[in-house]
Amino acid sequence: MRKKVTVIGAGNVGASCAVRLADQELADVVLVDVVEGVPQGKALDIMQSGPVQGVDVRLVGANDYEPTANSDIVIVTAGFPRKPGMSRDDLLWANYDIVKTTVEQAVKYSPNAILIVVTNPLDAMCHVALKVSGFSKNRVIGMAGILDTARFRTFIAEALEVSFEDVFTLVLGGHGDTMVPLVRYSSVGGIPITDLLDAETIQRLVQRTRDGGAEIVRYLKTGSAYYAPSAAAVQMAEAILKDKKRVLPCSAYLEGEYGIRDLFVGVPVKLGARGIEKIYEVKLSEEELAALHKSAAAVKELVDVMAPKLAEVEAARAAS
Ligand code: LAC
Repeated sequence: MRKKVTVIGAGNVGASCAVRLADQELADVVLVDVVEGVPQGKALDIMQSGPVQGVDVRLVGANDYEPTANSDIVIVTAGFPRKPGMSRDDLLWANYDIVKTTVEQAVKYSPNAILIVVTNPLDAMCHVALKVSGFSKNRVIGMAGILDTARFRTFIAEALEVSFEDVFTLVLGGHGDTMVPLVRYSSVGGIPITDLLDAETIQRLVQRTRDGGAEIVRYLKTGSAYYAPSAAAVQMAEAILKDKKRVLPCSAYLEGEYGIRDLFVGVPVKLGARGIEKIYEVKLSEEELAALHKSAAAVKELVDVMAPKLAEVEAARAAS
């Protein structure tokens, strides 16, 4: 049977996800958006690139969820992007409603799907998706770490004039200003970056990674990044669809790992057909752990603000 992926939101991130899924022939795609005509038009346009790209995938655009039935994966991109000067957290309430409504609809039609959340503020929106769906924690995964590590990898590769491919980094924590790029776990062809770059340069690249999203928002002015975010989301989808067991940093629901409980935070996970198949607890120094806890506290602040609403959501789901 062909695989099926629903992408919610036909904006820049959603449409880019659809293009990448199609180009890599990973699955048939249903593109959903509230704006009439846009998902239909974009789906048709992307499908018509199939003969040129030499790939066989069907794309359908829709304003309702019926065509999404029995999706293997649902990628949630719907929501408002940031504008210059905004933090991802400023989007909380606007995107809470969107994620709640879209996830409710999507899981009604695809009760066995795995949810990949892309909407910001990322870790908080994963929390909404988990509570609204009632899914087990392995089936709700946030896209952030792959993007943040990709940015760190890009900057290191540029600084050293080496291939992106040979640069490995790890970024933990929430997808926000407090994210924790781990210098100690970053290497180039197996060589620690501390042997290749001076401390000042590394700190500059760490800070540029933390500001990576904002740097692009400042250029674009009307929205945020979408090429790298869609590449990251589709890499997660590929790992799941092909049961690759890839080890990638993703936002995962922690229940005591790293001393963090009941929160989505970016950590390395094993991604396969069952979604998150394992959460890795890497050894951290006191300083790194403190930075991770600080980042988790920033996520908790948002989750606490939503707590009364989420309690209502859970009660309603339990009653239905
Ligand atoms: C970024 C947004 C998408 O980091 O969160 O670019």
